[in-house]
Amino acid sequence: MTPLERLAGLLADGRVPRDSGGYLDLLPPETGRPATLAQAAMQNPVVAAIYERWWRPVGTAVLGLNGLGMDRERGAARETLGLDGEQLVLDVACGPGNFTRGYGEALRGKGFAVGLDVSPPMLARAVRDNGGDRVAYLRADARDLPFADGAFDAVSCFAALYLVPEPFRVIDELVRVLAPGGRLAVLTSARSGVGLLRLPENLLGAATGLRMFDRDEVTDVFDRLGLIEVRQRITGFAQFVSARKP
Ligand SMILES: C[S@@+](CC[C@H](N)C(=O)[O-])C[C@H]1O[C@@H](n2cnc3c(N)ncnc32)[C@H](O)[C@@H]1O
Repeated sequence: MTPLERLAGLLADGRVPRDSGGYLDLLPPETGRPATLAQAAMQNPVVAAIYERWWRPVGTAVLGLNGLGMDRERGAARETLGLDGEQLVLDVACGPGNFTRGYGEALRGKGFAVGLDVSPPMLARAVRDNGGDRVAYLRADARDLPFADGAFDAVSCFAALYLVPEPFRVIDELVRVLAPGGRLAVLTSARSGVGLLRLPENLLGAATGLRMFDRDEVTDVFDRLGLIEVRQRITGFAQFVSARKP
C-alpha cells in the first residue's frame, strides 16, 4: 500500500479527497482571501520555499527560541510524543513537513505520520522536501479534522495556534482525535506577563494577526479537557505545552 492509500484509509465518513500532485486534498481550490498578514504569508509560494531554512529560524528568534535549532526541536518533539514504534502520528499545521518527516523516520513497522495543512504551497514543499515511506500529506482544516475520535497515538501542532482563526476549536479537535494514553504537544505564543510589555505585544498582534496567549490560557484548556501530565515550558514569547490523554 502506498503512503497516500494508507492516508485515504484513515479518513472518516468516507470522505473522498483529490490527489493534488503528491498530497490528498479535501478542500476547495480557493479557501477565500486570508484574513490576516500572517495567514497570507503562509499561502505564499515564496514563503513556503524559504520557510524551513530562513523564515522559521527568524520567527523562532523573534519568539525568543533563538539557539534551539530545528534539529533539537525535532528531537524534543519526538521525545515528548514518545515516538519509537508503530504509532500513528498527526502533525497539524505541518507547513512544509519540517517535523512530519522526522516523525516518519522515528517510527518502525506499521508506524505512520500524517502532515495536515491548509496551504497548497506549503504542502507542495512538504511533498518535495520531506516525503518518506511512512509519511503522507493532507490538505484539510485544523478546525474540522477529517478523522475518527481517538484515531492517533500522538498529535502535534507547532507554530500555528497563534495564527488560526479559532485556536480553541483546533485544540478541541487535537484532543478529540487523540487516542486514550496518547500524547499531545503544541508550540505557540505566550505573553511576557509584564504589564508594560502588553502594549507592544498587542500592537504586534494587531498588525500581523498573530494572537498572544496568556500564560495559563492553553494549560487551563488542557486541564478543562481532562488531559493529564500537563507540562509547560515558557521561553521568551513562546510556550511548549505537552500532555497525555487519560
Ligand atoms: C508557521 S507554519 C508552522 C509549520 C510547522 N508546524 C512548524 O512548526 O514550523 C503555520 C502553518 O499553519 C497552517 N495553517 C493555518 N491555518 C490553518 C488551518 N485552519 N488548518 C490547517 N493549517 C493551518 C499554515 O498554512 C502554515 O503552514
